[in-house]
Amino acid sequence: MTDVRQVVHELLAQLGSSREAQQYLKEFSGTNQARFAVVKVGGGILRDHLDELTSALAFLHRLGLIPVVLHGAGPQLDRALADAGIETKRRDGLRVTTEAVMSVARPLMYKENLRLVEALEDKGIRARSIQHGVFQCSFLDQGNLGLVGEVEQVELNAVESAVRRGAVPVLTCLGESPSGQVLNINADIATRELVWALQPHKVIFLSPAGGLLDRQDRIISAVSLTNDYEALMQQPWVHSGMRLKLQQINEMLQKLPDSTSVSITSAAHLTRELFTYRGAGTLVRKGEAINVYEKPDSNTLDTVITLVEKSFERSLRTGWFESLNKPLVL
Ligand code: ARG
Repeated sequence: MTDVRQVVHELLAQLGSSREAQQYLKEFSGTNQARFAVVKVGGGILRDHLDELTSALAFLHRLGLIPVVLHGAGPQLDRALADAGIETKRRDGLRVTTEAVMSVARPLMYKENLRLVEALEDKGIRARSIQHGVFQCSFLDQGNLGLVGEVEQVELNAVESAVRRGAVPVLTCLGESPSGQVLNINADIATRELVWALQPHKVIFLSPAGGLLDRQDRIISAVSLTNDYEALMQQPWVHSGMRLKLQQINEMLQKLPDSTSVSITSAAHLTRELFTYRGAGTLVRKGEAINVYEKPDSNTLDTVITLVEKSFERSLRTGWFESLNKPLVL
């Protein structure tokens, strides 16, 4: 009982109006349980914001929403490789993974994975570590990249079983070749593959920056790919990291239903992003095309009138649209 009261308390303290929160809670609970959300957590968040992260995830769990979590460990690995005196190179943004690199990467991934699982359990919720068996890979380019995997198939059994048992699945971005060789997968690529297989309602990228930034370093609240993508990609202030992120999100959303949206936010703002209209971060959707009709034909006009009347459950005065004398923007 105290638990429930605490949840409601936290919710009201963090959120705008409880009506908004209720509406989103209903929306998110309406999907198949394993398909609520995929949350990608960068290594930097595990290192610096573990408590905020686990509080936000535990909060979702208490509301009956079980996110599927996938994490990287990039900064930790850079550090560990430097400490071990092992050179680390990147090609086209991918880490060249020699056997020496893998000998450091693999135990480090396991360690970070367990750290997150234990931190979630410390918040009193169930979590399940899934370190293997999800991403079945071939070698992407063994000659140039070494032990880097190209995802061939995503096996969801372990993920779905965890969710059925009420445990938050916590995945690493390691895969295996058919013969069992452990392969490294770029965390954003692993996220994309997982998302394509799972088709979740929300995809959430957690980063310390808390969203995509405009030229004054303010968070861009929303991006509609249909309307904004080309223009954004032309902007000189969109730096390479953000360009890549936008490209990846664009590619990812093209293979998902229109109802799926991507949120980029920070661990501390996740709850506000999910349960308010305004959110706190960047929301990316495929978006609908906007059409301008200087002189709408009667079919278009009829469609619009029917829609408006249905939405407001009232009848429009005859000739109202015709008398407007303005282009119709749909
Ligand atoms: N709560 C809604 C969602 O998560 C809307 C979020 C709006 N966020 C924004 N950055 N504009 O889907």
